[in-house]
Amino acid sequence: MAVGGSRRGDRSRAGLLVLIVAVLQAACPAEALENGLARTPPMGWLHWERFLCQIDCSHDPRQCISEKLFMQMADLMVSEGWRDVGYQYLCIDDCWMAPSRDEQGRLQPDPKRFPSGIAKLADYVHSKGLKLGIYADVGNKTCAGFPGSYGYYELDAQTFASWGVDLLKFDGCNCNTLELLAEGYKTMSRALNKTGRSIVYSCEWPLYQRILQKPNYTEIKQYCNYWRNFADIYDAWNSVKNVLDWTSHNQEDITDVAGPGGWNDPDMLVIGNFGLSWDQQITQMALWAMMAAPLLMSNDLRHISSASKALLQNKEVIAINQDSLGKQGYQITEEDGFELWERPLSGGAYAIAIVNRQEIGGPQTYKFSLAFLGSGLACNPACSVQQILPTSRNLGLQNWVSFLKVLVNPTGTVLLKTVVI
Ligand SMILES: *[C@@H]1O[C@H](CO)[C@@H](O)[C@H](O)[C@H]1NC(C)=O
Ligand SMILES: *[C@@H]1O[C@H](CO)[C@@H](O)[C@H](O)[C@H]1NC(C)=O
Ligand SMILES: *[C@@H]1O[C@H](CO)[C@@H](O)[C@H](O)[C@H]1NC(C)=O
Repeated sequence: MAVGGSRRGDRSRAGLLVLIVAVLQAACPAEALENGLARTPPMGWLHWERFLCQIDCSHDPRQCISEKLFMQMADLMVSEGWRDVGYQYLCIDDCWMAPSRDEQGRLQPDPKRFPSGIAKLADYVHSKGLKLGIYADVGNKTCAGFPGSYGYYELDAQTFASWGVDLLKFDGCNCNTLELLAEGYKTMSRALNKTGRSIVYSCEWPLYQRILQKPNYTEIKQYCNYWRNFADIYDAWNSVKNVLDWTSHNQEDITDVAGPGGWNDPDMLVIGNFGLSWDQQITQMALWAMMAAPLLMSNDLRHISSASKALLQNKEVIAINQDSLGKQGYQITEEDGFELWERPLSGGAYAIAIVNRQEIGGPQTYKFSLAFLGSGLACNPACSVQQILPTSRNLGLQNWVSFLKVLVNPTGTVLLKTVVI
């Protein structure tokens, strides 16, 4: 509401609305799932976008989903500094399972892909100071056709806990009704709690629900640590662009609920793969930080350029993503091919992103007034401005009536941080 107002209408009135909403929220913040986890957006690696599941291990052992692949990624997460900047969760997606349950009804891993078992892999991952994520589905089958958890929620939660799993991505394929979908997501949440193990719970509940019904995010946040809203990402600018457009068009419904314990999930970071130009990689990193998104990379840590690695490990961008205030950013204007986004940070600071959405020509100048930011409070009476992306640069001391000019490449982003003085 507040956010939408400032996009469309009179700025000062919208600013007042933002303030009122902020006060209301401070008085009664949306209640999060009480497992003490995901106080900031989770960070890690997830196999899906880069490794999918069609590759057979006898055909291409280096590219297939297997315990070897996850052990290699675990090693690299430590040796290449990923863990130390915050990427902690190493997550398995679909296709880890054998085609049927065991005699006791328990899920079991594919014996060719995970011959040592998931508990062994979890031990290995833990020995590296990392955490292990796994995947299951609320319905009768996973999206790729492996056994679903319907009818087995308690047993599957206990199985994952007994293996030492730390995160569950729970998909929503093959579920017949909205009632079963909602009941399934809630039952699994309670079942995870009952195991007594701390397990981050990632849901796709609103994604499958919204086709037929408006999701109730207040309720979803009571059961899930983060949740997907929109289609799977793929390795292309078109996909990243669709995620950003969907998010800004729906920001009135999804922004305010995000906070410590519960986050909107715009899906994986595809930086370091094949489909995004350098500027588009910068845009994904900057905007995932603005959106307080889980930072789950899907790439091959064995083959990644030093530039993509430096971008994914940029400490100033990660600090924005992980800001302790836990407020999700939003778009404040979209005009002349530019988008202006802001995100309130702790200590009265703001992150500002200027995206050049033009896909023709060269770098374009965007000029804006600091008085527009933070409902007039971001630089009042004065602030220091730091450019973080595409390169680190000090833009000096500014005041409330200053205009800033930035040069932004087509499909690129300039990310700034203001600190009020
Ligand atoms: C289970 O939920 C209760 C609150 O309902 C919470 O206090 C407790 O920490 C939770 N346990 C786990 C393991 O998530
Ligand atoms: C699973 O399949 C059974 C039998 O067809 C059906 O009754 C049940 O509703 C299905 N469960 C879900 C979650 O769709
Ligand atoms: C959404 O869920 C919350 C918490 O369960 C509930 O209090 C509220 O009434 C629900 N809102 C709607 C519109 O159903």
